[in-house]
Amino acid sequence: MSGADDDQSQAPYLDATAAYVARQPARFHVPGHKGGLGADDALVEVLGEAALAHDLAQGVDGIDDGPEPTPYTQAERLAAEAYGAEKSWFLTNGASQGNHALCLALAPLGRRVVAQRNSHASIVDGLVLSGGNPIFIEPEYDSELGMALGVEPTKLAALLAENPDVRTAFIVSPTYYGLAADVAGCAEVAHAAGVALVVDQSWGAHLGFHPDLPPSALALGADAVLTSTHKLGGSMTQSAMLHLGSGGRIDEAAVGRAVRILRSTSQSTLLISSLDAARRQLATRGEELLGETLEKLVVVRERLEAIDGIELVDESFVGRAGVAGFDPLRIVLDVRAVGCSGLQFLEHLSTHHDVHPEMAAQATVVFVVSLAETDEQFERLVAGVEATAAELSCGFVAVEPVPRLGVSAGCVVPPREAFLGEAEVVALDQAVGRISCESIAGYPPGIPALLPGERVSAEVIDNLRQTAAAGSRLHGASDPTLSTIAVLLEERPD
Ligand SMILES: Cc1ncc(COP(=O)(O)O)c(C=O)c1O
Repeated sequence: MSGADDDQSQAPYLDATAAYVARQPARFHVPGHKGGLGADDALVEVLGEAALAHDLAQGVDGIDDGPEPTPYTQAERLAAEAYGAEKSWFLTNGASQGNHALCLALAPLGRRVVAQRNSHASIVDGLVLSGGNPIFIEPEYDSELGMALGVEPTKLAALLAENPDVRTAFIVSPTYYGLAADVAGCAEVAHAAGVALVVDQSWGAHLGFHPDLPPSALALGADAVLTSTHKLGGSMTQSAMLHLGSGGRIDEAAVGRAVRILRSTSQSTLLISSLDAARRQLATRGEELLGETLEKLVVVRERLEAIDGIELVDESFVGRAGVAGFDPLRIVLDVRAVGCSGLQFLEHLSTHHDVHPEMAAQATVVFVVSLAETDEQFERLVAGVEATAAELSCGFVAVEPVPRLGVSAGCVVPPREAFLGEAEVVALDQAVGRISCESIAGYPPGIPALLPGERVSAEVIDNLRQTAAAGSRLHGASDPTLSTIAVLLEERPD
């Protein structure tokens, strides 16, 4: 993806940090552990001296301070070139920070935006911060597997036609399950309606770096794209990037301002260095590393498919409504024919075989494959799945996914008003018909069943109870036992 003029083999920020440490300056600035001298011995042992020595805060001359372009600015520029973006920002509070910033910039107080209903919780949290008002679009859905797919362009076009004041649409691609939406189609209908398309590509930091992967959303015409680089791009946990496309539909200065107010004034050099290094690796060696992993995956998939009771969600889903591509770095098992739920399968696999998937739902188990995996890792995965399927096998019992929620009636009041409004805590069953102040999501995947500003329905309560009973953690619930919930004190007409 990188252009001919940039030098993607450089990692200016990583190098500047290393050079500062190598010259052994007398450090009289934060962090107070002073490169490890003042840190707990066990911490030094666990992290290693080098990690602590290179742990600096923002503001060091010659790293991210001093004459422009600083190594920080250069590193962001190289990231933009590698991703084919007009401008990229490094994020140190995950892709969540990017969603928050995009909401502040594109969905300010009272502004209506279209948002995929099953977006990550950080979108509605962003709307709580910004005061924007969502109009929801439902993605396609596989009800047998209980799995959301992507948004269909025709549905997006229809919703935008009904809501001509909308200037921004937020969609997700690929999904947690590696299924990519028709982003090109969505971009075309959005642009025809004068709307900027934002794609949460958190699960696809590696897309665009190998021809056998789905193309990146930026290459397909998206106006802003988030990559949660720590997920599959090789950087450290909590680091991510936000990229702007070249269409000029989004105000770069507004996004930049929002990104800045949402980050610490002491961003960690470790996180930023890891983004700089991950970008270099993807740009210079991504195709080679991904190619080797994709080759190994062909055999892994054949072996998994041969296991009794195991079906795979894969390339064969491409072409269904809401699915335009599949990312092979996701291994998604349909375990219904084993006769257990995905959650039971995960529990057994991790407890008895020490193999740990990313997540499970009622019918499925999801494994994340990285840029580079060893044969030994894959061997453990296949052997663990084979043993678990045999140990849990009890013939086919219909494992019912938690039923899909009906189409959301939308937020009766904007999420910000509901979240910050005067609340009362009521017993969950008494909450039917009231307006929720809370965003509650089963985690993973962190997709809220109930949003602040939505009316609580008996169906939502059922869904939340079933999600909890199935073993998922409830994210955002003020009462983790789910006996009570906060609702708006004042009643509003719809
Ligand atoms: C689609 C999506 N967007 C955003 C996020 C938040 O990413 P992060 O954990 O980097 O803040 C996630 C996390 O799982 C996600 O699945």
